[in-house]
Amino acid sequence: MKATIKACANLALIKYWGNAFSELNIPINDSISVSLSELQTTTTLEFYQDEDQLILNDSPVSGEGRQRFDFVLRHFRMLTGVTDNVKIVTTNNFPTAAGIASSASGFGAMAHALYEASGLDYSDLQVSSLARLGSGSASRTIHPGFAHWHRGADHETSHATQLAPPNNLRILVTITSPEEKPLSSSKAMLRSKESSPFFAQRGNTANDHIPYLKKALLEWDFATIGEITQREANNLHAVINTTEMGIYYWNRTTVEIIHRIKQLQTSGIPCYYTMDAGPQVKVLVMPEHVKEVEKSLAEIDDIKRIINSGVGFGSQVTQDHLF
Ligand code: PMV
Repeated sequence: MKATIKACANLALIKYWGNAFSELNIPINDSISVSLSELQTTTTLEFYQDEDQLILNDSPVSGEGRQRFDFVLRHFRMLTGVTDNVKIVTTNNFPTAAGIASSASGFGAMAHALYEASGLDYSDLQVSSLARLGSGSASRTIHPGFAHWHRGADHETSHATQLAPPNNLRILVTITSPEEKPLSSSKAMLRSKESSPFFAQRGNTANDHIPYLKKALLEWDFATIGEITQREANNLHAVINTTEMGIYYWNRTTVEIIHRIKQLQTSGIPCYYTMDAGPQVKVLVMPEHVKEVEKSLAEIDDIKRIINSGVGFGSQVTQDHLF
């Protein structure tokens, strides 16, 4: 049987950074994300008899990516009893592994496609838990709009639920470099856990932020949403930068954009920045201020591209098979 899934990347407003139990990606804190309509992965998966195959953007996947794929597959087989081999072909419409959550949409699409192609009955929560094994943030992919990943205590209880449906928020994804990041987030968070003096405190603070952001999202209090999001990004990078020998994902343009957003805030324009394990900056802004913010960012020479995204549909089944 064959299935094709289109999955949106997601952007963490409250960040995941580190695990209580690393092997299964059971995190130290809950996190909250928004689905991104313009950043999509398409994955076609078919059960067949030949050996397992994974092709990403036209090339076979090897190394860390392949190991994680095998790990998800092993668990899927264990959980469902399905033993057939699989062929997976997957494409992203945005730069892979550059800090815009390609692993989230990639593993989200893969987990969803495995269940869909198997013909078994399944729930969103099962897809979420399976996706988490490939990449923690992938647990939040399946839901349209805003998702809440409950850290839980084991494989079954660590999954995401939908928090709020899509609305008219815009997210400007500024690409400052299309290159792959030097260190994957899963490796970097392990190193942070071992060596940043602020690692545990950041996780506690993130958990403390959860009820405030939840309330703000449900009431649509954009100023509070933006303030918490920006604070979370700052806390995340404080931990990353204080990891043994310092890890630096930012480049000069990343810093220039942060300054620009702060200037816009001072001039009364509600827009807020956030960054993940990469040099790109994502800016939250409501539709009525998009033009002003885009115009201001266009003055920064080194921005390669700005993707103006809406709130996405999570992941869904389509008939547009890739093979
Ligand atoms: O899911 P991973 O292992 O790619 O880690 C994601 C980490 C951040 O993007 C920095 C934060 C998050 O919650 O998405």
